[in-house]
Amino acid sequence: MRDKIVAGNWKMHKTLEEGKILASEVVNIVTDEVNSDAKVILGTPFVHLDSVSKLIKDSANVFIAAQNCSEHEQGAYTGEISAAMLASMGVDYVILGHSERREYFNESNEQLAAKVDKVYEHGMIPIFCCGEALDIREAGTEVDFVCQQLTESIFHLSNEQFEKIVIAYEPIWAIGTGRTASSEQAQEMHDAIRKHLASKYGQEIADKVSILYGGSCKPSNAKEIFAGKDVDGGLIGGASLVARDFVDIVKSF
Ligand code: G3H
Repeated sequence: MRDKIVAGNWKMHKTLEEGKILASEVVNIVTDEVNSDAKVILGTPFVHLDSVSKLIKDSANVFIAAQNCSEHEQGAYTGEISAAMLASMGVDYVILGHSERREYFNESNEQLAAKVDKVYEHGMIPIFCCGEALDIREAGTEVDFVCQQLTESIFHLSNEQFEKIVIAYEPIWAIGTGRTASSEQAQEMHDAIRKHLASKYGQEIADKVSILYGGSCKPSNAKEIFAGKDVDGGLIGGASLVARDFVDIVKSF
């Protein structure tokens, strides 16, 4: 009913040459070993996108994602990259609202809403990240917190836009820490997110939205995490930097 997706987020890793090798390895192993119709997305740094886009062009189930874009159309914004630029390189998806962008670059829910709009305006699909810090989890207010992130950044979208969005739930306390959410914790939050989507857009649209889990997901735990009925795949950081590990996660469905 919904897309199964494994998206890699390379973050700020790999030189151009290293990135080309990694992307080629992923494409080769996916071609040889993956028989499911899972979508595989490579979220590379900006400078790799053009080369990786060419490397994946013959692969029906491999796509590319940028890790951010500007909320502005164009102009005097030194160092920024626009959605139009990304679309012109054949980018399919844009990761938005990753907790590292929220924390280190002060991205607000309101700014992210504007970025989401730019991504749609240029024909791409957002992979919209949400997730709570440890203190929020310990206070027991994680569902409210995550729902508010979603309400403030994506609930202005039309039904037609909304049913295409991909959501990534990433508890901050599980990112890069080796401490993953349990499969129960992941399913519980994904279920709460889907109910929240349904409260605004109705069950039929909510059921079309793929919700990915991110945070220390690796070949050894992916199968268990992906078994949750509302867990439609993963957004993978560290383990996406090794082709074998990344594709083994893709094979966990
Ligand atoms: O975007 C990916 C997440 O931040 C997860 O990173 O798999 O290294 O914990 P990680």
